[in-house]
Amino acid sequence: MPSYRAPRGTRDLLPAERPAWARLERVASDIAARYGYRELETPLFELSDVFERGVGETTDIVEKELFRIAPRSEDREAWALRPEATAGIVRAYVQHGMRTWPQPVRLSLIGPMFRYDRPQAGRYRQFWQWDVEAIGDPGPAVDAELVELGLRFYREAGVADVDVLLNSIGDPGCRPAYLAALTAHYRARVDDLPERERRRLETNPLRLLDSKDPDMAAVNLDAPRITDHLCAACDEHFAAVKAHLAAMGVGYRVEPGLVRGLDYYTRTAFEYYRRGAEGQQQALGGGGRYDGLVELLGGRPTPGIGFALGLDRVVLALAETGPAAVAEPVPIAVVCGADPAGTAERLRIATLLRAEGLAVRAELGHRKLGRQLEAAVRDGARYAVILGDGLPSGEVGLRDLRAASQKAVALDDLAALLRRKAGSPSTSGRT
Ligand code: HAM
Repeated sequence: MPSYRAPRGTRDLLPAERPAWARLERVASDIAARYGYRELETPLFELSDVFERGVGETTDIVEKELFRIAPRSEDREAWALRPEATAGIVRAYVQHGMRTWPQPVRLSLIGPMFRYDRPQAGRYRQFWQWDVEAIGDPGPAVDAELVELGLRFYREAGVADVDVLLNSIGDPGCRPAYLAALTAHYRARVDDLPERERRRLETNPLRLLDSKDPDMAAVNLDAPRITDHLCAACDEHFAAVKAHLAAMGVGYRVEPGLVRGLDYYTRTAFEYYRRGAEGQQQALGGGGRYDGLVELLGGRPTPGIGFALGLDRVVLALAETGPAAVAEPVPIAVVCGADPAGTAERLRIATLLRAEGLAVRAELGHRKLGRQLEAAVRDGARYAVILGDGLPSGEVGLRDLRAASQKAVALDDLAALLRRKAGSPSTSGRT
């Protein structure tokens, strides 16, 4: 027989793990609501063109990591799984005429993204992002609002010591002159460049700045800095972003080598790292301004800015240092009975209790009562409701599984009694 496994770079989130994710989703949704960012969903796949134009054809994400969907013969359209959310959200902004909505349109999306990355700890082929976008505001105040919003998520999720790295990567006005200076710098040292970086020098020289290749460290040490080449408008914008962050008391570090791996960025760029973990290329999240993207995807010129936080990396960070694991919900009671023919009655009573809003499991098998009670304890249930057992009709046994005590209860009173017990703190949650 074949032995099947989840595809490389993907994971099953088992029931014991899922509550930690649900908690992060609640923290994100709650913050989004407080800051006025409205949730939306976009498809998990789009026309490949949306990503090729949006993210950029020469980026790693498109060139090497895009999960392209093999076209069926009747389809003339080429699709790909989304490697990130921004391009799809901007496509939706244009498609639904969101420029007629009050600007900026503040949007939030939580969901899986797909990149054909080399899997390792914290790097998966299917991973989850919380993506937040503000479209239609040229900044600089909204830039600072977003940087702080991301930090708030980490704080409320329980990840301590997150640093913000900040940069400005200019705009189409000032970047070409910077790229020319950067290219000249690398050309003068072409013999020191690894083969792969030599090729990228011709297609996307900015990417050499944050190359993961250790041989690049020396070449990058004295590379020209974008922050020394900003035009007056970009420089002023950057200064204003920093002033807004300072006014909010948000600390940050300017990192001139931070260029991001997607082509749509202009001006503000930022990433979040766990303190001391910057060198590992494992950003907890990142984002920036993309003032040309709406136009690139067929809309009118519209500024935008956003970020995405990698939830897998947050879960990993929490497992190391964060609050205790999130408890899985447990039933308050399991409906049991010694009569092998009693499954219909057990199911009927469990259904009544569930209709009253209680979490209840019914024992639907034919095992002995002792085994049923053992299983109820394993489930983490506080009570067993025992049918039959010589009690008059209209009554059931209510066994406290921790105290190992039992009393008879009128069936009519059972739901109210269990609801009262369910409200007490000792009955909720299994860790
Ligand atoms: P990104 O930097 O490509 O930006 O991804 C954001 C975050 O997603 C990363 O910092 C990381 O935490 C997580 N991430 C990326 N790839 C993986 C992976 N293979 N496995 C696990 N986690 C991963 C974007 O995606 C932009 N769309 C962000 C943005 C929104 N910019 C403007 N608006």
